Amino acid sequence: MVSDVAAMTRIYSHHVLNGTGSFEELAPAEHTMRERFELREADSYPTLLAEVNGQVAGFAYAGNYKARSAYRFTVEDSIYVAPDATGMGVGAALLNELISVCSSSGYRQMMAVIGDSANVASIGLHERCGFTLIGTARELGYKHGRWLDIVYMQRSL
Ligand SMILES: CC(C)(COP(=O)(O)OP(=O)(O)OC[C@H]1O[C@@H](n2cnc3c(N)ncnc32)[C@H](O)[C@@H]1OP(=O)(O)O)[C@@H](O)C(=O)NCCC(=O)NCCS
Repeated sequence: MVSDVAAMTRIYSHHVLNGTGSFEELAPAEHTMRERFELREADSYPTLLAEVNGQVAGFAYAGNYKARSAYRFTVEDSIYVAPDATGMGVGAALLNELISVCSSSGYRQMMAVIGDSANVASIGLHERCGFTLIGTARELGYKHGRWLDIVYMQRSL
């Protein structure tokens, strides 16, 4: 799996530089992505990969929602699909599997923290996978020359 970090870095960098799904503005280096992956592994948080025709087409992972201990049964999901593989069901396959893995591991709630309210693909994907809208926090981020909302969605596991 660590051998897939290069592909994950390429996909994530595209979305950092061109989208609003991540509130990072500088694409992280591959070694940073590897450190993040290894930290999730050390904490037993799942990272999932999707392949199409032998190529990494997307990845998803769960991480802690917040660090304080009482949040320990809640995870936050992240999903990034390669730009040439969107709209083919990859995101739904990854998110449904992530929900299943996290449910089996004993987590109780999954939070989606979506940037931003114009991200119809992510909002639609989460709706399709059983998430309900909690609310929208206005203008928490500033990227690509505009203010960005955060849309909170939640699913019981
Ligand atoms: C959001 C994202 C992961 C969706 O992945 P995807 O593989 O394209 O999604 P799927 O093809 O599996 O679509 C699943 C459902 O999501 C919804 N959806 C996907 N793209 C959509 C779009 N452009 N507009 C509206 N709804 C959309 C639909 O409900 C779709 O189900 P349907 O095909 O039965 O109608 C992908 O667009 C992506 O990587 N976006 C950039 C990064 C990002 O914002 N990630 C989320 C961070 S919170």
